[in-house]
Amino acid sequence: MEAVRIGVSATAAGGLCALLLVCGSRWGKARLARALLRRLALRGDERMLDLGCGSGVMLVTAGTLLPHGHAVGVDRWLAWQQRGSDPRTCLANAAALGVSDRVRVATADMTALPFPDASFDLVTASLSVQTLRDRALRRAAVAEAVRVLRPGGRLLILDFTHTRQYAADARAAGLREVRRSRPYGPVFPPVRTVTGRKPRTEP
Ligand SMILES: C[S@@+](CC[C@H](N)C(=O)[O-])C[C@H]1O[C@@H](n2cnc3c(N)ncnc32)[C@H](O)[C@@H]1O
Repeated sequence: MEAVRIGVSATAAGGLCALLLVCGSRWGKARLARALLRRLALRGDERMLDLGCGSGVMLVTAGTLLPHGHAVGVDRWLAWQQRGSDPRTCLANAAALGVSDRVRVATADMTALPFPDASFDLVTASLSVQTLRDRALRRAAVAEAVRVLRPGGRLLILDFTHTRQYAADARAAGLREVRRSRPYGPVFPPVRTVTGRKPRTEP
């Protein structure tokens, strides 16, 4: 009887986690992306890069806030990491929000970006850096994000894990005003942000 009761509550807990995951992924991520991007008070003409854009939640949301700018998403399109991680889905999502004119995608590895230094005003990474298999790769991704930021440009990383490392790596790569947030709710498990700004002049 006791074993049956434990079995039932474990199943219920599993079901609740699955429900939270699905709802968080479907609705929470877009809400969170919008709230975080709004907090940056963008002018609307920025050049933005999203690392590991997947199906494009952060990318296309940024597109809606950049009427005079552009948003570039890069990814290796690993469908096993996210259903819908492919350029066609990403561009269809941009079209659905009416931002195709300012959203572009490219196939690239976030640890070795094909962009010159100081190319972007904002670099974001939503739930993507944690998929890299080891610390050295995650550090390389953060360093690449900092390299392609222009002076004064901002970094926004959103992740479940490793956020303490990202903050340390961002500082080591030269970012200032680096902050690690408290956990946020509308996705499950809760996520933290790491934000920072590239100094305008060399220290
Ligand atoms: C969990 S998904 C997150 C997708 C999206 N950013 C979101 O928030 O929904 C992780 C994404 O990172 C991509 N990815 C993994 N390793 C990568 C790498 N080295 N370079 C670029 N993208 C990568 C995967 O293909 C996948 O689309």
